[in-house]
Amino acid sequence: MINIEHNILRKDFPCADQIINGKRLAYLDSAATTLKPQCVIDEVKKHYTNETSNIHRGLYWLSENATSKFEATRDKISNFINSPDRSQIIFTKGTTESVNLVAQSYARHFLNKGDTILLSQMEHHSNIVPWQLVAEEKGITIKVIPINEKGEIILEEYQKLLTSDVKLVSVVYISNALGTINPIKEMIKLAHDVNAKFFVDAAQAVSHLKIDVQDLDADFLAFSGHKMFAPTGVGVLYGKLELLNSMPPYQGGGDMIDVVTFEKTTFNNLPHKFEAGTPPISAVIGLGIAVDYINTIGLDKIHSFETDLLNYGTNKLKSIDGLRIYGEAKLKTSVISFSLGDIHPHDIASLIDKEGIAIRTGHHCTQPLMKFFKVPATCRASFSIYTNQEDIDQLYKALIKVKKIFE
Ligand code: ALA
Repeated sequence: MINIEHNILRKDFPCADQIINGKRLAYLDSAATTLKPQCVIDEVKKHYTNETSNIHRGLYWLSENATSKFEATRDKISNFINSPDRSQIIFTKGTTESVNLVAQSYARHFLNKGDTILLSQMEHHSNIVPWQLVAEEKGITIKVIPINEKGEIILEEYQKLLTSDVKLVSVVYISNALGTINPIKEMIKLAHDVNAKFFVDAAQAVSHLKIDVQDLDADFLAFSGHKMFAPTGVGVLYGKLELLNSMPPYQGGGDMIDVVTFEKTTFNNLPHKFEAGTPPISAVIGLGIAVDYINTIGLDKIHSFETDLLNYGTNKLKSIDGLRIYGEAKLKTSVISFSLGDIHPHDIASLIDKEGIAIRTGHHCTQPLMKFFKVPATCRASFSIYTNQEDIDQLYKALIKVKKIFE
């Protein structure tokens, strides 16, 4: 039974409480990857210790056990995001592979010269480059939905861009670099008004907000396991049934076939059509446990706790003279991107690492967004359910120290 009392919850994450560089660790890089709870670690260990086997192949207990745990994760994910059917849940390597799959199997196949794809100014490179690769090959135009200084999508501009040539819109639900929560449901509705499909990059959203693909009416939605307390190497692509059925396979190999001859191959049904080769079995099983873990706490509680933490952190960091926050959207969560005077973010990160603090610095794989804010990089502190006020206080004190060094 998980106790939702916060500091008790933190004890579920062995990595959170340790000494690094002689100092108490303050892990503030959860947007890059979340720490893993003991229950997920135990399940992965159990798989390798006593339950190792490949799936969908062996008529023996170990294989049937691994297959049933693997497929149970599909059911759990399907319920978690309210998919109409479990066959609409495709396991991929992560969000990046999910975007590439749709770019190659949907956009490359169904979009043509003269069509337009809309992306926003705040997209991660993984939601830009896969579309560019197809756009260049097919003569598709990519247009950019502008944002304002607070880091919010300008909806009026988005509406103006939604002309009849727009066939696909792909936008992030929560920005990894700013924490902005985009009005995805409204944006999907507007895209559907011009018959465009909508891809939701939910990589950051999945562990912070309740996702209901039917309520959103998303055509495609993707996320990664490692940003929701599960191991690296597994992600999910959700798609509407008629779209997934109409798309050709992304990769060829074992498991995705029906009958193979040298003359012609027929393909397996969904979801297996898109799952060639041996998948990351232990990671998928671990993902199932991570979903159980999130469900036990409840995403509403998680979101409300993280909102309090964001408010506390924002007020605390803002009180430092010379600190500028990038991204002050009305709706945001769990991320504070900032600069401190003209101190280079990499210097800040290296100095506060000595104080036991882990933050990310750089362009956060969002170079066009950095260009918009006219900075090469920012510092980013990002939170999850195991983050506490002490972590933020530690960051605050370390930044004051850094400031003194550069005075
Ligand atoms: N996309 C991840 C991040 O924002 C890696 O750090």
